Formats: sequence, structure tokens, C-alpha cells
Amino acid sequence: MYHIMLGPGDIPSYVLLPGDPGRIDTIMSTWESAQEIAFHREYRSARGVYKGVEIGAVSTGIGGPSTSIAIEELARIGVHTFIRVGTTGAIQPDIEPGTLIIASAAVRFDGASHEYAYSEFPASATPDAVLALVEAAERLGYTYRVGVVASTSSFHVGQSRPGYKGYQWSRGDALMKDLQRMGVLSFEMEAATLFTLTNIYGLRSGCVCAAIANRVTNEFIKNKGVRETISVANEALRILARADKRYGRKIHSVTELYSVL
Ligand code: URA
Repeated sequence: MYHIMLGPGDIPSYVLLPGDPGRIDTIMSTWESAQEIAFHREYRSARGVYKGVEIGAVSTGIGGPSTSIAIEELARIGVHTFIRVGTTGAIQPDIEPGTLIIASAAVRFDGASHEYAYSEFPASATPDAVLALVEAAERLGYTYRVGVVASTSSFHVGQSRPGYKGYQWSRGDALMKDLQRMGVLSFEMEAATLFTLTNIYGLRSGCVCAAIANRVTNEFIKNKGVRETISVANEALRILARADKRYGRKIHSVTELYSVL
């Protein structure tokens, strides 16, 4: 594949998608065995074994366009289950830094997904991926929230932060307040693209992010919760892979997921 530099058989069908290529090292350190397999542009890839299950990881870079390329190319070489592991900025006052945000769906401010479907098309996670992530977070004892995130194509002005020289426009002034009223949990930059493309293609996806910032309380704790997101995502992939093995690849019921824990 032109961008990710991988071909059929190079990577398992269950993959973690961090944004940051540097996070591939952290992910590899959580597996029993691991090897880096490619690194081209923002796409750094590794494969390994976690609790007996073969899984992979590919960094997407920041934002929808590079994420859409990763999904397009990984799908072509047999990847069917994607779990994004990222960071996010909470916009509800009661979400403490380090809390894990499991996205049930994403507001499509991403740009790239609009190249694929009407803006009314839902960017929703796959139900069994959400359940597997919740189960993993419960078992590991981490604090988490489940809900809607907003995926933007700009970190600064697009997330209601001032731009250079304090620039902001009327939409940015109102955006965060409106999303708070709608109960949206946080800002991030990739989930909407991932969820939209996988819905269209009949693939499976989920997303767990560490809330490293709270935009209301103005707290920021670099990397707080990042290791925990990786543990939760590894466990979720293991649960899904085992359920697929036992019941065939489909959207699993709670009973099926529970039976493979
Ligand atoms: N990622 C984002 O997109 N926004 C934040 O505030 C933090 C992480």
C-alpha cells in the first residue's frame, strides 16, 4: 500500500490506531512480543502478540485526511477491527484529567468524512466495540465516560481556542458552549472519520481517548491516562478477537462477549 507501506499478511486484522507515531513504542511495550514493520510519513506500524492474540498498531497522524488513508489502505489488506487510542480535551466541567472517554459516536466536524457521505450520515462506533471497551475499562478499574465526542479538523480555532493574535470568529465563540449544552464530552480529531468510513464499509471500530485536558477548568496533564487507554484497547481487541473466533465475525451480543472474558 502506497502510504502505509504494508501488504496483505503484514499486519493482523485487529489493530490499534494511535495518532502519534511515538506512541507505537508504548504500545509495543505492553505486548508479549512485538516488532516494528514499517515507518513511512506519519504511518508507523507494528505487530505483536497480546495475551495470545495477534494484534497490530498503525499510527494515523493527526486529523481526518491521514486517518482516512490509513483506513482505506488497511481495509484493503484485510484489517476489519480498528480501535483508536488517542487523547482528547474534555469540555464538561466534571471530567477530570486522566478520565477515559469511550466514544459512542462523533460529531462530524472532521472534513474528511464529508468526502464520503452526506453530513446527516451517522458517525457511530460499532456497538460490540463500545461494549468491549467498557468491559475492559471496568475490569481494569479505570474511571471512564461513554458518550459523544466532537472530531474537528483544527486543534486551535476549530476547538474554540484562540488562533494566532487571538483570532476567533463567531462560530468558534459559540461552538464549545453549544456542544456543552448538547452533552458532548470532548474534542478530538479522528473518531468521526474512523466511524463514518467503517460504517460505510461494514467494518468494526471503537475509540478510547485519555482526557489530558479540561477546557472548562483549564487543567492540562500531559499523557495522563494514555497508558490506561492502551491497556483498555488491548483488552477490547482481545475480547473481540476471541468472540470472533468462537462465534464468527459479526456484531456480538453482551452474552457472547461475556462468555469469552
Ligand atoms: N486532542 C485534541 O484534539 N484536543 C485537545 O484538547 C486534546 C487532545
